[in-house]
Amino acid sequence: MARTADPRSNANETQSLDVEQDISQRFQTRSYQGVKGHKGFVRVLKLILYLILFGALAGKFLTGSYLWEYEGKWIRLRTYFPPPQLLFTESELAKYDGTDLDRPIYLAIDGDVYDVTKGKAYQPGGPYHLFAGIDAARAFGTGCFKTHRTHDLRGMSDAEIKGINHWKKFYENHKNYFKVGKVLHPPIDPSSPMVEGCDTKDKGKSGAKKDTVERRALVQDSNMHQEL
Ligand code: HEM
Repeated sequence: MARTADPRSNANETQSLDVEQDISQRFQTRSYQGVKGHKGFVRVLKLILYLILFGALAGKFLTGSYLWEYEGKWIRLRTYFPPPQLLFTESELAKYDGTDLDRPIYLAIDGDVYDVTKGKAYQPGGPYHLFAGIDAARAFGTGCFKTHRTHDLRGMSDAEIKGINHWKKFYENHKNYFKVGKVLHPPIDPSSPMVEGCDTKDKGKSGAKKDTVERRALVQDSNMHQEL
């Protein structure tokens, strides 16, 4: 193309050529950096993959299990795709205590309902059948299996509450049990009398001891328990 004789127009053309060059240079530098960043990312991914592979092989070699004998909830599909959660009344929950063989066995602890059908201990005749179909959170903390089958936690000691939290975690992380929903309790009237400790009828002996004896009797009576 012929150049114009106007010096101002020539200067404009040179300027726009410079800008084009600059843009193209910047574009090349950026795409180079992009490729570099991408390669770095792939390298990190590969390293993580190798580490996982190494960990799994070491687990297999040392424990016989690729997952180092881990059987908790994080390897269950249900953890990532939980079933729709249900809301139970106390009387609805009671229908799932294992006496009806066509229904699963549910228990509740501090409001959370779990499917424990796979636990033989909860079947009728099993040592922990008394936890089935009910929220007996208090009994989990005190060990008073007969008289503390209630969700009323008023007046419990820190140690007993810790006991409940221990069992809550037990159900939350158990490989065979899973949460199915919540149970709605009618509100507790604060002026109603508190649940008695299980030592009140047997002064001199600790309530826990008394109830442990009761529980042991249950356990000994049950063939199920031996199969646990
Ligand atoms: C506060 C007192 C206690 C509570 C709340 C309690 C509750 C439980 C619960 C919820 C389970 C789990 C059942 C399952 O789903 O597998 C269990 C298991 C068991 N309990 Fe107790 N328990 C208590 C005390 C005792 C005592 C004192 C003994 C000892 C005689 C005992 C013996 C067992 C045995 C042998 C198992 C099965 C062990 C296993 O599968 O790992 N429990 N208990």
